[in-house]
Amino acid sequence: MSAKIISGVEIAKAIRKELKEEVEELKAKHDVVPGLVTILVGEDPASVSYVTAKSKTAHALGIYSEQVDMPGDTSEKELLELIHKFNKDKKIHGILVQLPLPKHIDEGKVLYAIDPDKDVDGFHPVNVGKMVLGERCFLPCTPHGILQMLQRSGVETSGAEVVILGRSNIVGKPMANLMLQKRAAGNATITLCHTRTKDTDFHTRRADILIAAVGVPNLIKADQVKDGVVIIDVGVNRVGMSESGKAILAGDVEFESVKEKASFITPVPGGVGPMTITMLMKNTVQAAKQATGLL
Ligand code: GUN
Repeated sequence: MSAKIISGVEIAKAIRKELKEEVEELKAKHDVVPGLVTILVGEDPASVSYVTAKSKTAHALGIYSEQVDMPGDTSEKELLELIHKFNKDKKIHGILVQLPLPKHIDEGKVLYAIDPDKDVDGFHPVNVGKMVLGERCFLPCTPHGILQMLQRSGVETSGAEVVILGRSNIVGKPMANLMLQKRAAGNATITLCHTRTKDTDFHTRRADILIAAVGVPNLIKADQVKDGVVIIDVGVNRVGMSESGKAILAGDVEFESVKEKASFITPVPGGVGPMTITMLMKNTVQAAKQATGLL
């Protein structure tokens, strides 16, 4: 059996079409233009390409966007001042500070400084708390995108054994929280594995749905999963450079061998990646509607 490919490119395209129409309607009926600012500190190549893609996508959907590129030696104080400025800016409904930040800046302090009503990443503790309680909030973009992929591909999650690899604040922890809730793409039984897990293979082999977010290229091989597993591969690992200078990417799962055993699998690239950016746009539209009393 060869797995069905869950194309993030295709699902993201469908959601973007819905969002573009929503943005047009917001403008026409309510004179509201959703606004997003992306802030990048330093020149990490992966971060530069993510932030550029975020601004480009915003523009394509009719969302007003600003991109602020700050040098790597920007002080924490300067960054906090910039965030305070955008917290007050009426044109801006969403603020995104690209992570990771340089070592001399306290990430927690920066994320806490963002107005929770503009926290379109869903990283502020107010939004994290609301998410855990199942209240309306900004959901973190990558887990939110994965829920959409599962739902729109018709994957049954209710009662499923979901095994998540990686306990990051951006993916693993929120993913576990969301999939155990009584909600669409939820109601699952969750196991979260991490670097101290005693026997990770025991868990991966019994997973109905395996979500890998560890950042180790091709870590999961065919003998570590069961027949019919659904694979969501969050890893985006640079494993080389093509002759034209483009990064060659690999996921956390060995795609070629595992796709022969899985029922569904996400590719890298073209899987979770495009969904993350799209959900950021969805959150920005949500932020604009909330700020203008339309939600
Ligand atoms: N770095 C890697 N993923 C993300 C994300 O979803 N948001 C931000 N702000 N930084 C990231």
